[in-house]
Amino acid sequence: MSYAGKKVLVTGGLGFIGSNLAIRLAEEGAEVVIVDSSVAGCGANLHNIAPVRDRVRLIPAAVCEMGSLGEALARTEVIFNLAGEISHTHSMEFPERDLQINAVAQLQFLLACRQYARGRRIVYAGTRQVYGAPEYLPVDESHPVNPIDFNGVHKAAATTYHLLMSRSGDLDAVVLRLTNVYGPRMALNIPCQGFLSNFLRRLLLGQTVEIYGDGNQLRDPMFVDDAVEAFLRAGEAQPLPARIYNVGGPEALSLAEVASLAVAAAGAPGPVYRPFPEHQKAIDIGSYYTDWTRIQRELGWVPQMRFAEGIRRTIEYYRRELPHYLASAADPTCDLPEHIGFRRRLRYHAL
Ligand SMILES: NC(=O)c1ccc[n+]([C@@H]2O[C@H](COP(=O)([O-])OP(=O)(O)OC[C@H]3O[C@@H](n4cnc5c(N)ncnc54)[C@H](O)[C@@H]3O)[C@@H](O)[C@H]2O)c1
Repeated sequence: MSYAGKKVLVTGGLGFIGSNLAIRLAEEGAEVVIVDSSVAGCGANLHNIAPVRDRVRLIPAAVCEMGSLGEALARTEVIFNLAGEISHTHSMEFPERDLQINAVAQLQFLLACRQYARGRRIVYAGTRQVYGAPEYLPVDESHPVNPIDFNGVHKAAATTYHLLMSRSGDLDAVVLRLTNVYGPRMALNIPCQGFLSNFLRRLLLGQTVEIYGDGNQLRDPMFVDDAVEAFLRAGEAQPLPARIYNVGGPEALSLAEVASLAVAAAGAPGPVYRPFPEHQKAIDIGSYYTDWTRIQRELGWVPQMRFAEGIRRTIEYYRRELPHYLASAADPTCDLPEHIGFRRRLRYHAL
């Protein structure tokens, strides 16, 4: 597998996973173009691409701005499409905003791809959230799609756009359905980005980690380098055996185990248990972990990083870089009234 000299485009490349991918691609010698409009409430951070800032081209535009993208798309050999909003709770509060970011903008981007990069490989960052509450474990690609929040509905729509346009030959799409990803460059300063970002923020601020409920739900956290490796393989596979791949972590851990491994890695006290906030209980999917045997069998991908080591590396990164991620040192919890200002900005942000 080699990306040396390849022309690649990464949407959402200032965000958590996109920046890690862009760095790896640049280090492999690819010509990298990043498209990111730094959407308020998402994880864009210019510092994320500091190691390769002089080696990548940044187009500070929304993916739906075809005028700015045509020339870049026309030159691109592989498109990595990671622009999106990940917060399930934001999606429930502002469903139209989530629709705009995760579905409408995606459709507009794919139409631009059809016009300027017809038939090109595009790897889309899908999500396990489209499956909803699992009917069985581990969850494979045959599991029914039955999302229980707007984020899942809109990501499912964007997935379907990719598949539909591949059937017609307009695109050559692969959808990776990612489980919870963690690692360096997560946006710790943005509220409601999931339990891993929340645990990390509290640990790094010297606060006690809180677990909602009994902590028995299972998850399979995946280190970001493993996610990046899956994108690289999906971007190159020829021929492409399937269009949808589940991508997950190497271990199924309870949230209580995740919290205590994180706490141990940080040398912090805790965790403590709290009742589920009502708005989160409504969209909790219970236990989830991934059956990733299809991508193992067909693309040779296997998650490498166990959580105890991955979280240690993650904490080490943030201890070094914390001012770039927690400038205000606030604890932005969606439940707190003082974050109404933040919520207003989300609502009125022009997309
Ligand atoms: N982080 C996870 O655990 C996880 C799990 C499943 C799926 N995913 C998917 O992976 C992708 C990346 O997630 P992440 O954690 O890196 O999120 P992130 O919020 O850190 O990054 C997303 C980036 O996309 C950009 N963006 C959003 N809409 C845009 C638009 N219309 N035009 C240009 N840029 C736009 C944002 O500014 C941000 O920089 C998302 O699509 C998300 O749904 C992430």
